[in-house]
Amino acid sequence: MSEPRKILVTSALPYANGSIHLGHMLEYIQTDMWVRFQKHRGNQCIYVCADDAHGSAIMLRAEKEGISPEQLIANVQAEHSGDFADFLVNFDNFHSTHSEENRELSSLIYTRLRDAGHIATRSVTQYFDPEKKMFLADRFIKGTCPKCGTEDQYGDNCEKCGATYAPTDLKDPKSAISGATPVLKDSKHFFFDLPAFDAMLKSWTRSGTLQDAVANKLSEWLDSGLQQWDISRDAPYFGFEIPGEPGKYFYVWLDAPIGYMASFKNLCDRTPGLEFEAFWNKDSTAELYHFIGKDIVNFHALFWPAMLEGSGFRKPSGINVHGYLTVNGQKMSKSRGTFIKARTYLEHLSPEYLRYYYAAKLGRGVDDLDLNLEDFVQKVNSDLIGKVVNIASRCAGFIHKGNAGVLIAGNAAPELTEAFLAAAPSIAEAYEARDFARAMREIMALADRANAWIADKAPWSLAKQEGKQDEVQAICALGINLFRQLVIFLKPVLPNLAADAEQFLNVAPLTWDDHLTLLGNHQLNPFQALMTRIDPAKVEAMTNASKEDLAASATDTGAAQGNGELINDPLSPEIDFDAFAAIDLRVALIEKAEHVEGADKLLRLTLDIGDEKRNVFSGIKSAYPNPAELEGRLTMMIANLKPRKMRFGISEGMVMAAGPGGEEIYLLSPDSGAKPGQRIK
Ligand code: 2FM
Ligand code: ZN
Repeated sequence: MSEPRKILVTSALPYANGSIHLGHMLEYIQTDMWVRFQKHRGNQCIYVCADDAHGSAIMLRAEKEGISPEQLIANVQAEHSGDFADFLVNFDNFHSTHSEENRELSSLIYTRLRDAGHIATRSVTQYFDPEKKMFLADRFIKGTCPKCGTEDQYGDNCEKCGATYAPTDLKDPKSAISGATPVLKDSKHFFFDLPAFDAMLKSWTRSGTLQDAVANKLSEWLDSGLQQWDISRDAPYFGFEIPGEPGKYFYVWLDAPIGYMASFKNLCDRTPGLEFEAFWNKDSTAELYHFIGKDIVNFHALFWPAMLEGSGFRKPSGINVHGYLTVNGQKMSKSRGTFIKARTYLEHLSPEYLRYYYAAKLGRGVDDLDLNLEDFVQKVNSDLIGKVVNIASRCAGFIHKGNAGVLIAGNAAPELTEAFLAAAPSIAEAYEARDFARAMREIMALADRANAWIADKAPWSLAKQEGKQDEVQAICALGINLFRQLVIFLKPVLPNLAADAEQFLNVAPLTWDDHLTLLGNHQLNPFQALMTRIDPAKVEAMTNASKEDLAASATDTGAAQGNGELINDPLSPEIDFDAFAAIDLRVALIEKAEHVEGADKLLRLTLDIGDEKRNVFSGIKSAYPNPAELEGRLTMMIANLKPRKMRFGISEGMVMAAGPGGEEIYLLSPDSGAKPGQRIK
């Protein structure tokens, strides 16, 4: 036996301001299966993660909810931990980047980098929101695209024409936070001297640590020259203040990967025998792998190894990059109900169905993975229920009826058990290489062989014949043994199925090496259904619920914003009755509805609310391209919204609509009989 390996594994840290969805789960499930495989093989493998709790998005989100950032991140951490546990993602530790361990490690790494001369400072000119008194990240600035003139584009790129630019190039820039016109302001920033690590990175990225496609992409960046990396942000910011630099904070991406170390440190501090240094010191012989999505390769394969090198720590052994999740061949879509939150999935379906489907489709590459919902039902039902569980349910009854549940010793088909034994190294190799799809194919090929053999022997026919009882017992004993082998091979993917099978088989938790032996002269426990087929109606209910999640949150937050953006904000804060009662909701008659010259998303509505007329700009054009059809119709409006100055005039209220956006915006209407101006109570 070779020495057990020491392996530390991480998945990307999810931001602490949103729910986990099935796209995130692709990464956590993939990592968890790999970690479980390592543990199954007897290696020491530790899997840590944390919530990524810093940054202005989290600060602003907490402010909007009227709670402290600490409260927001605690709420989200509870939600995330529950989702991961219920998907059987078995972290050894799930921590937070807003932790003492992370503060200390971030400060240690920064001071080491600074003392080694790897930190530079210089003044940066940036947009500043004079109302909020804060510098604005690109995504908090909106304006008109300098190239094609489309309004309402973010500060770094245009969604319409794809142009990329600096926020200062935007025409008519506005702060997306307060609506104020930003001003340019200078401030001192801190930079990490990435170019100093150019040679190290050129060799490290080519040393087998990365998939080829990723290494090639990095070569392009490395060849075009590295830039110093801005690692500071000015107050107000939710994060760690830079040591010795009041009012300056570490940019969230500086302390996020250090959060991997911090989570591990937190685990070491309460686990006797687990030593931080043994995994992170420069001369560590432990392996370190980060599983990430392809969008954050630069942070993990350039900045992070350079930070580690520059501060005297070891570098990762590998960065395992995966592609994005698509559902039914397309980007996850809120309106199609394919933007599925982890919790919504769990309310309808068992986690192991998805774990198996992801495993069956995950290769080593960075290609996107498609969750085709019809194929999902078909594949899970056919493989897991039709092939694997079927073997046990076909054989168990005969052993219980014919031999009081005692599985006899012997081997009714040595060529079959040989084939299983022979396949094991290749299945293990596929798991090791994260080629889960190949592992699943090889396991299912074995299941096919086992089923074909049992079908050929037809114990159900023999059982009806005189004097064939021994033969029936021999066939079924082997059937159960083959089932046991399959469960051993599938255990990293299907831990609950394995636990239920261990209970039925009446055995201690199975390890990989248990496949080397067969059970004989062994008492089984009564057989209970191990897994049920997916009912397609449940998949439909899940997608419908995903649409409902959205409709509910869209109406909660007032779907149509004055700027034409539909927001989906699932964590709307509660409001008290007084706040509700303060809203003046009225029935409004749409007298006139017209296009607005130069506006892509807006219609101008002239509303009659009984004793007065209101001019309202509403971002509903995508759903009502012929505005005249709205004229004469009743709807509902918020009549006491503070008038808002827009580019095209003043908007005096807001009409109410539901739906995710695009063509799916549904203006609300009262029943017939309601009169313009009536209050809605
Ligand atoms: O992209 C993201 O969701 C980040 N929160 C990932 C951070 S991974 C690590 F570096 F902390
Ligand atoms: Zn444009």
